[in-house]
Amino acid sequence: MNTQKYQRESLESTSRAAVNPSTGQEPGMSPGKVRWPLDLGLPDATTFPRSEFLELTEHTLAEAEPSLFYGGPGRAGIARGHAGLRAALAERIGAAPSSASGIDGIMLTSGAAHAIELVWRALLRDGDVFVVEAPTWGASIRIGRALGAEPLAIPMDRDGMRVDVLERRLGELKAAGRRCKLVYVIADYNTPTGWSLSLSRRRQLLRLAVEYDFLVIEDRVYAELRYDGPQLPPMSTLEGGDRLITVGSFSKTLAPGLRCGWLSASPDLVDVVAAPREDLGSSQLTARILEHFVRSGRYDEHLSRVTRMYRSKRDTVVASLREHCGDTVRFDVPHGGMFVWIELAGHVKGDLVMHHSAQEGVLCRPGDSFFGDGGNYQQWFRMAFTMVSEPELVRGVRVLGEAIQRST
Ligand SMILES: Cc1ncc(COP(=O)(O)O)c(C=O)c1O
Repeated sequence: MNTQKYQRESLESTSRAAVNPSTGQEPGMSPGKVRWPLDLGLPDATTFPRSEFLELTEHTLAEAEPSLFYGGPGRAGIARGHAGLRAALAERIGAAPSSASGIDGIMLTSGAAHAIELVWRALLRDGDVFVVEAPTWGASIRIGRALGAEPLAIPMDRDGMRVDVLERRLGELKAAGRRCKLVYVIADYNTPTGWSLSLSRRRQLLRLAVEYDFLVIEDRVYAELRYDGPQLPPMSTLEGGDRLITVGSFSKTLAPGLRCGWLSASPDLVDVVAAPREDLGSSQLTARILEHFVRSGRYDEHLSRVTRMYRSKRDTVVASLREHCGDTVRFDVPHGGMFVWIELAGHVKGDLVMHHSAQEGVLCRPGDSFFGDGGNYQQWFRMAFTMVSEPELVRGVRVLGEAIQRST
């Protein structure tokens, strides 16, 4: 039996069972109980541009030629996905040196999760070391572990991954005759913290990538959801960008159900990641609709609409937390993304808060799931504020505040 494959399949089904994305339900909760799914980092469904997609679908089908139905041209074309969307994305990625490689430097995937899984599968082997931020998106750790690779978690502060700590750990690995293969960073608005990697640390990280011979995987799924604060340059615009694989997606800005993401890197590197791909590519129809949506400028208009809405939700959730939770919680106001990372006061029992609030229908994501080291992070939890309406956010936070009062 192929144990690695079996382990990965069971891992994925475990993570799927952890929560039902459409209802926000966790296993063991009775149906209909979840009223405030504040555990889910998802867009507000009311923002989805239905009528525009209807019009673009009709238009796309009307002009359909064989490659819409068969993909291509050729195996490389099938694996990399629809050239029109790749070209539109290459233009959006813009002045980045790596975009000089044009559409051959972009591969479409079924969401960013798929891009990450393909990169991990192409690059990681049993016993390899890969670096993640602590805390980070848990699936990145699980996918690597399923391949037999060993995650090395580097702590974060408000300026992102502690690159000085990373440098020390890389030196230790080298002294032990080992090497880190890749470093995964959510450089803009990390989940769960909302913190971003500072410009100087972006530069330092790329410098270390050359010195210690590893690749940097920059996950930009939240990067375009910026509400205020500094706009940091994508790492692909910095020196050393040839050591970089950038991952992006329409899941957080439009809808995860589209399952359309991409990775961008030098064409040679994209070839390496595409080589083991056996899934025959991603949806041509979706890619063509999105190509028109991006090229017509409607994606940018949509982005301004959603960021305006989410900025207002961010302000509402922050005001509600201050009003209903007071000094029982501590958090930074996020400048972008979907989350508030909340620390409970020492006298509050985090496990009881999760229990009491879930019983009342408020779900948040406990801190433990972002570390993957078996440690106890129950004084921390992540609250997502983009999916539910503002009045429901206020109600949900009030119920959470009451649960906190009962959890001392
Ligand atoms: C940091 C991060 N990367 C990737 C993903 C997966 O995105 P997609 O839906 O595009 O696969 C998520 C989803 O929660 C995420 O939080």
